[in-house]
Amino acid sequence: MQILVLGSAAGGGLPQWNCNCPICQRARSRDPKVRFRTQSSLAVRADEGPWFLLNASPDLRQQLNDNPALHPTDGTRHSPIGGVVVTNADVDHIAGLLTLREGQSLSLYATARVHETFDANKIFQALNPEVVSRRKFTLDAPTQLETADRIPSGLVVEAFTVPGKVALYLEDPTAGPDFGSVAEDTIALRVASETGDGYFYYIPGCAALPNELTKRLRKAPLVFFDGTLWRDDEMVTAGTGVKTGKRMGHMSISGEEGSLAAFQTLEVKRKIFVHLNNTNPVLMDDSPERQSVTEKGWEVAYDGMEIQL
Ligand code: MLT
Ligand code: MN
Ligand code: ZN
Repeated sequence: MQILVLGSAAGGGLPQWNCNCPICQRARSRDPKVRFRTQSSLAVRADEGPWFLLNASPDLRQQLNDNPALHPTDGTRHSPIGGVVVTNADVDHIAGLLTLREGQSLSLYATARVHETFDANKIFQALNPEVVSRRKFTLDAPTQLETADRIPSGLVVEAFTVPGKVALYLEDPTAGPDFGSVAEDTIALRVASETGDGYFYYIPGCAALPNELTKRLRKAPLVFFDGTLWRDDEMVTAGTGVKTGKRMGHMSISGEEGSLAAFQTLEVKRKIFVHLNNTNPVLMDDSPERQSVTEKGWEVAYDGMEIQL
């Protein structure tokens, strides 16, 4: 299995267009220790099979141009991409679908709940239903990813719900403290290749690590995990927002309830933070926070990172 990190940042990217925080400033000044990062997406394929995008970010066009493996090679109209899987309906994970609208045959996998969002919004008709095949996940069961023409990809995905929150623009302020979120709003993926024994978890948004989730992740060979924030109140103290991580459905890296502590005894072989918000100090290669995650065995994803499993 081959994995490409297309975009390692959370919504907004690094630098974010309207953010003047010290980290965005360093990135904008081309400081080599604070790399540019585009928004949240991976690409994966088994052996020589078609590529599948895991989330389609608003930066997808640039990401495709930056990754030669994803360029057309065969005839006047072609793409090595067979389909897309999305893990929630957040803007940073679905807006890129509109970049894929040029009549290209694709399969589009999501939960029934996220498909409701596509069905309710006519702009997604830009993905011509005659060539883009929409498929609903059965949760907690293996799904063999196939192209729109039912060609097997060699990838087997298990989608399961994780603690999270409905997309910001779908929040219902009258629906109580979770704004009308339901379990299917946020999923994680276990991605395996049919032939090899390699597999990994992709969890770009996660609000907490309950027992059933830690049980799944124990001894996994590779986990990409929600690295949105270092501290729960980091956006508030940076002056870039009023929301905490808890309010946004993201558990933080540090602290007693953070991911560093939660993964400490899980014996996961390779742990990589993805979906990093531009206020997160681990994005600076020379920060004490980066040193601290590195010492605990974590890596911080960057655009163009390649992994062979
Ligand atoms: C999130 O990850 O919390 C969302 O992508 C935020 C947003 O919609 O900007
Ligand atoms: Mn996001
Ligand atoms: Zn910033």
